[in-house]
Amino acid sequence: MKQEGKAAVSPVLPVPRTKEEAKRFYDWLSRFYDFITAVFERKYAEMALERLSVKEGEAMLEIGFGSGHCLRQIAQSVGNSGKAYGIDISTGMLEVTKRKLERAQLTDRAELYCGDATSLPYGDNTFDAVFMSFTLELFDTPEIAKVLEEVKRVLKPGGKLAVASMSKEDGESTLLRLYEWVHKKWPKYVDCRPIYVEQSLKDAGYDIESEEKVRLFGLPGEIVIAANAKSR
Ligand SMILES: C[S@@+](CC[C@H](N)C(=O)[O-])C[C@H]1O[C@@H](n2cnc3c(N)ncnc32)[C@H](O)[C@@H]1O
Repeated sequence: MKQEGKAAVSPVLPVPRTKEEAKRFYDWLSRFYDFITAVFERKYAEMALERLSVKEGEAMLEIGFGSGHCLRQIAQSVGNSGKAYGIDISTGMLEVTKRKLERAQLTDRAELYCGDATSLPYGDNTFDAVFMSFTLELFDTPEIAKVLEEVKRVLKPGGKLAVASMSKEDGESTLLRLYEWVHKKWPKYVDCRPIYVEQSLKDAGYDIESEEKVRLFGLPGEIVIAANAKSR
């Protein structure tokens, strides 16, 4: 079933803000984002990363690396023979992550880029794995397919994609409806909104390897691991 098919049941809300607004918001948030994410999402980002089993020598991309907690782990896991790449729209987040990598003496293993992930500045078949935590749900609905198509392009055949995200797959609850109301009222600031993660990946032609449902302070989340099926 396509994401649009599910819209008849419960539509995914739009994200009506410009990229410039997103950049400004995350530049501002970058000063204290490490503390916010430690309380709310980090546990699930780490779970998703663990499911990906990053190996030494791999080339790996994180989209929307934020304050760099997972990117630092990726740089550690890929070792000297691998490389961790990261793209984020916020220069503030890039600076925070750069400092984190410097402190860990991992600068040589990482390459950071500031830009919009709807157009990835990497060649075809570059990465063994791509990682996204609490970032796919920030893209407006038509852009989700675009980002997933770009990820497919840069992934090697059989390469893995891990996504941790807020989710609508688990149906409606009062808390979810309340959260969506807040998002509708202040979409520039409460920008994450629940999406159909597994279904979006299936629609984009990925092979689903695992899907787990989690709870983020009572709100539904999903961790999905998928493989790039383009070799067939
Ligand atoms: C909610 S934060 C999640 C950060 C990190 N992945 C984590 O789990 O802590 C989303 C991140 O995506 C970045 N972002 C937002 N829109 C983006 C876009 N269009 N392209 C690339 N990065 C984007 C933001 O700057 C921010 O760092």
